Amino acid sequence: MNDETTPETPPAPAPSGPRAAAQLERRLKEEVARRRTFAIISHPDAGKTTLTEKLLLYGGAIHLAGSVKARRAARHATSDWMEIEKQRGISVTTAVMQFVYGDHVVNILDTPGHQDFSEDTYRTVAAADCAVMLIDAAKGVEPQTEKLFRVCQLRGIPVFTFVNKMDRHGRDPLELMEEIERHLGMRTCPMNWPIFDGFEFVGVYDRQTRLVHVFSADQTHGATAIEAQSAELGSPEADAFMTERAKARLAADLELLDIAGDAYDPARVAEGKLSPMFFGSALNNFGVKPFLEAFLEMAPHPDKVPVAEGDGDEPITAISPELSGFVFKIQANMDAAHRDRIAFFRITSGRFVKGMDAWHPRLGKSVRLKNPTAFMARERSTIDEAYAGDIVGLFDTGIFRIGDALTSGKNLQFKGIPHFSPELFRKIRVADPLRRKKLIEGLTQLSEEGAIQVFRDWWQEAPDIVGAVGTLQFDVLAHRLGTEYGCPPILTQLPYTLCRWVVPAEGSKAVFDPKTFKVGQGALIAKDRDEHAVILFPNSWGVNWAKEQNKGFELLPVSPLAEHAGSLGKSGRSGR
Ligand code: G4P
Repeated sequence: MNDETTPETPPAPAPSGPRAAAQLERRLKEEVARRRTFAIISHPDAGKTTLTEKLLLYGGAIHLAGSVKARRAARHATSDWMEIEKQRGISVTTAVMQFVYGDHVVNILDTPGHQDFSEDTYRTVAAADCAVMLIDAAKGVEPQTEKLFRVCQLRGIPVFTFVNKMDRHGRDPLELMEEIERHLGMRTCPMNWPIFDGFEFVGVYDRQTRLVHVFSADQTHGATAIEAQSAELGSPEADAFMTERAKARLAADLELLDIAGDAYDPARVAEGKLSPMFFGSALNNFGVKPFLEAFLEMAPHPDKVPVAEGDGDEPITAISPELSGFVFKIQANMDAAHRDRIAFFRITSGRFVKGMDAWHPRLGKSVRLKNPTAFMARERSTIDEAYAGDIVGLFDTGIFRIGDALTSGKNLQFKGIPHFSPELFRKIRVADPLRRKKLIEGLTQLSEEGAIQVFRDWWQEAPDIVGAVGTLQFDVLAHRLGTEYGCPPILTQLPYTLCRWVVPAEGSKAVFDPKTFKVGQGALIAKDRDEHAVILFPNSWGVNWAKEQNKGFELLPVSPLAEHAGSLGKSGRSGR
């Protein structure tokens, strides 16, 4: 069951002969063009679970979505997906869902809700090619939406907006557009426009096709897919769907949009500067299908960006024959009797084949990938092959770390996935001094797994501070240190809320010296897991003050990548 590692040279690329190579190239192009890999980002309660379920419903991956009467039936369907977890005692949750829609292979990466909000959430965004930002029409941009949006912005990926709950009386859509621009600094471009809201929300007007799509609720309360009736705006059929009030409002809004709105510009969308915007109600399926279809057409497939650089060769892209990818999430076995973990491997190029050997550059070893798991929405099964954009679950006996690459043929390394600034910090110790070594071992392993970030006061010998973005991370940490390492920790709250990584400013030759670096009242100079200098601050005022005082330095909200970890990649701070 476990993957095997043997010290070897990197495996040779699979195809041999020009014909096989040409065939593979064609196949790779086709498969990559079909892939869409995205995360849905939202604040809790905006309707992410509901929308995800509806996308699976329209994708044919489930047959009943979960509102009211169907909820129980849907739960059964959900538990069926967990077959592999049951067999192996590993909880992989529904972290990744794959389904086929038309010609597209869709991979949805789940970002956990607020209870579980953790760095995992950020790292999941690092494995997506674009994001769907879900907004509650009545609430607008909420704090967690903004946090996740910032991660998308950092990576420069396209963000699509879906305004949900239009069946309730919400805010004026024009006001929502304005709010997104003001809070997030991103312009929006409505691809469709709601035909009224609340009880009078009957559908959406597609600005490209000039078609009015009107829905009527069925008896299943949104549990089954519904089709829209469509008619051209201004036609008697379309007029028949709308009240006079709805018609007048639509006409006025469209006029304003045409004058003041941004035109759809794929280049600006690709840079994350312009967000195509859609309206609907996930609960009763209004507008879900128009959104899904337009989104799949517009969303990027994974071949845009060079994913990594090899030993001085051509940059690797999604259609390069060599396999490459990186681990963005490691999920520990919830069953303490099994130490196995699942590493979530995002493929960035080439073809993944079950049982293949892949090169693990960090360890300098070849790894046999025997039991890869695919995350099909309908079932979890062992997969035979996968392509760029897909996520594969690899059994991990402790050989993977977040950000690790696997490749075939080339000794390349990704720049990794940055650490994001924690917002909560705790002092950590064990009551029994004899268990200190064990505590350090546990902290080291758990931080490699990405469960927690570990720091140490600059002047201390051993890690003594842990950082997280959600309190649940501390609960899990305490539980696992107790059960798996036999050293239940004592955690004490610390006043810091921000961590900043210190790097020389562009063009500066400044060298960090903890004795002369000015951090101000209440801040602490520390080191991260990789011995990089960080400052822990109680508030953003402290960060600004320190920036002013230390002109030769930059204070980064994410850990600097690779250059400092000795990897081969060159550009960007993204995970790719
Ligand atoms: P989340 O994953 O983002 O946290 O949200 P979730 O889908 O669980 O939805 C949160 C609540 O919002 C649920 O109601 C859900 O039914 C409701 N909701 C989702 N989409 C829509 C929509 O388009 N219109 C309206 N009116 N409501 C929507 P709940 O009462 O908290 O739960 P439940 O009893 O329905 O399960």
